[in-house]
Amino acid sequence: MKEIRVGIIGTGVISNQHMQRYQSIPNVKIVAACDINKPRLEAWGAKYNVTDLYTDFREMLKRDDIDSVDVCLHNNLHLPMAYEVMKSGKNCYSEKPMAGSYADAKRLYDASKTFGKELSIHLDFMFFRQSRMAKKMIEDGELGNIYHARSVGLRRRGRPGLDMPLSREFILSDWAGHGALYDMGVYHISQLLYIMGLPKLERVSGQVYQEIDYKGRPASEAGMSVEEMGVGFAKYEGNITFDIIETWAIHMDELGPGFIVGSKGGLKFTQDPGFMGRPATPSLKFFTTKGGDDIDIDLKLGSNAMGAMSDPMEHYYANEQEHWIGYLAGELPERIDTAQVALQTMLVSEGIFLSGKLGREVTAEEIAALSVSNAMRTQDTEWGRFEYTF
Ligand SMILES: NC(=O)c1ccc[n+]([C@@H]2O[C@H](COP(=O)([O-])OP(=O)(O)OC[C@H]3O[C@@H](n4cnc5c(N)ncnc54)[C@H](O)[C@@H]3O)[C@@H](O)[C@H]2O)c1
Repeated sequence: MKEIRVGIIGTGVISNQHMQRYQSIPNVKIVAACDINKPRLEAWGAKYNVTDLYTDFREMLKRDDIDSVDVCLHNNLHLPMAYEVMKSGKNCYSEKPMAGSYADAKRLYDASKTFGKELSIHLDFMFFRQSRMAKKMIEDGELGNIYHARSVGLRRRGRPGLDMPLSREFILSDWAGHGALYDMGVYHISQLLYIMGLPKLERVSGQVYQEIDYKGRPASEAGMSVEEMGVGFAKYEGNITFDIIETWAIHMDELGPGFIVGSKGGLKFTQDPGFMGRPATPSLKFFTTKGGDDIDIDLKLGSNAMGAMSDPMEHYYANEQEHWIGYLAGELPERIDTAQVALQTMLVSEGIFLSGKLGREVTAEEIAALSVSNAMRTQDTEWGRFEYTF
């Protein structure tokens, strides 16, 4: 099997999850890593036995022995860095959200076409067996005509960098662009849009909020400049409606699960709780009727490994990195266009922000026309000023 040589830019928290995945794929070799935080970079290199370490990405991108560069930076650096990666002739795998605004995401998508390089955005929910099964059931017509979906994400108290020990960049608009919708919402929204076959967005109305205090003071006084909650209602072609709620903080214990409903059946996105060491797994419940009787079917995806065992290609869908590497190595003939799904996710998310700002419903055309860049043009570091060329 062809070896795929990977470089990583950003050796913070999420790079460790990426590394765990890469380490389980036999034909991946991590050949280089880059971070502007030298002690962190060196500790990371020692942990993973990677010796070619860079504090300046431009030096790393000069190499001609790297097939794919994994960008694990904060949101407003996704476009700038991914652009440089593809411009240097390498394929790019970038963290979510696709960028800090729809305009930036579109620029990135177009750049992959201009440079003729592959681009994938890490939105792993699309690769759950839950998603594969739901998509197949819809394609097989088991839900009939799809007409409504709900995207739900609840953290009762989970603002990264405030309530959770993650970097503060998550709550700073200069770095993140936006908050809960870009952090967790993009997983849930992208999953459902992908399963429904990427319907065409027509219009959106919505609002974002920052209402929950932090230790008795407004969260803004603790530096938070993004939303903790986003709520939206979108209309897609074919009269499909989609409601979205995503929270990092709310005085509520449950919001119910996401679902997709059609004329013949409905799918609820559940969690198989696991048993005796078997981990909890995203699963599905199917609701339909037969002969006038209501039928509920618990698909229990977590306990059924038969599908994976009988299809030798199935492991390329186990997670997004398996999929990406399989495709780059020429083992997987086609791959899911995760960048296109990510772009459509950005469009509806940006619609929620724009609708809240303008105080009215907005069309997909308005969202695309009014979206502005949040991406960093320059970055001052102890290694000098980086000028990004997108
Ligand atoms: N932490 C999580 O649980 C998590 C989960 C999923 C996705 N993500 C996404 O991953 C991204 C990064 O999150 P994180 O938690 O790993 O952040 P982090 O702050 O832990 O890591 C970011 C790293 O980027 C480095 N960096 C900044 N500018 C750089 C540059 N020009 N060149 C090289 N390195 C540079 C920083 O020094 C830092 O080490 C975000 O977009 C986030 O949405 C994070």
